[in-house]
Amino acid sequence: MNKDIYEIIDKLKNTHSLTKEEYLVLIKGRNPDTTELLMKYANEERKKYYGKEVFLRGLIEVSNICKNDCYYCGIRKSNPNCQRYRLTPEDILMCCKEGYELGFRTFVLQGGEDGYFTDDILCELIKNIKKDYPDCAVTLSLGERSKESYIKLKEAGADRYLLRHETADKNHYEILHPPSLSYDERMRCLKDLREVGFQVGCGFMVGSPGQTDEHIAGDLKFIEEFKPDMCGIGPFIPHKDTKFKDAKAGSVALTCYLLSIIRLIHPTVLLPATTALGTMDETGREKGILSGANVVMPNLSPKEVRKKYMLYDNKLSDGAESAQAKEELKRRIESIGYTISTSRGDVYKKD
Ligand code: 5AD
Repeated sequence: MNKDIYEIIDKLKNTHSLTKEEYLVLIKGRNPDTTELLMKYANEERKKYYGKEVFLRGLIEVSNICKNDCYYCGIRKSNPNCQRYRLTPEDILMCCKEGYELGFRTFVLQGGEDGYFTDDILCELIKNIKKDYPDCAVTLSLGERSKESYIKLKEAGADRYLLRHETADKNHYEILHPPSLSYDERMRCLKDLREVGFQVGCGFMVGSPGQTDEHIAGDLKFIEEFKPDMCGIGPFIPHKDTKFKDAKAGSVALTCYLLSIIRLIHPTVLLPATTALGTMDETGREKGILSGANVVMPNLSPKEVRKKYMLYDNKLSDGAESAQAKEELKRRIESIGYTISTSRGDVYKKD
């Protein structure tokens, strides 16, 4: 006999840990009552550490050139319809300048795995950002690299690194990626990033092709055990130039439900309401925040390149999504009872 779902929710709230089977019962037991209860508990936990603050990060999409062919991704190497671009270090510094003036104190450098961004180029760039803006955090989201490379980037001054694990199931990993990419290598990178001293983010897509409830339960157990400082989850959205073009998109409601659960697993985790959530639903980001998310990452990339960083169809790039529209974002976040914070917003450390 399965444990009653309300007992499981209480156990999660009190111990921040469940078995994989219990996570599965939670996922399968999603209904308006369990959703509301998890949301309530998630907000109580978040409030203890972060109050009503939502942290803003300036996202700079540095390049859409990528050596990989992830089957779900619009900027994968073999997509001939993707117009490629790369920002120069000078362009990136200009984005930081604009972002700093807009009040941002974290810059996220995200891009495909573009060989141009060698350790030397990145280290010099990171040092320059840190020299000009010593009060800012630098987050990197540049994919898989060697441990030596991660060490150099950390020594150059980068603070955080985002690398979604994508799925904690090896077979599912192989459905989403070509043979040149492996689950073991992904895990190696995450472990190295942790050892090197970064604040580390993992994460996955909700509703990705081939994903089952069992896979999601495994992702939650992985997140519990890995103890990330940040965790990015968003609905999968098909891209017209990929083999998953006709696949179904992930659900906003399930994504929000999982945000509440992840908040309860790690009450201090930094949890973004992602662009994918905002793309699927006009008020997706607000729903994410109300479910337990406490980070939003507006786009600071130069306007001309934004439409080229199309990981999935219809990806938002203006409106409240753009860093320049900070006032609108502020108004929207305040309208649901939260405030925006422009501080560095490091992860809360209990000592
Ligand atoms: N839909 C939703 N998210 C996607 N990503 C890549 N392609 C898609 C898509 N089609 C996510 C991946 C990656 C992050 C940068 O964007 O999880 O790690």
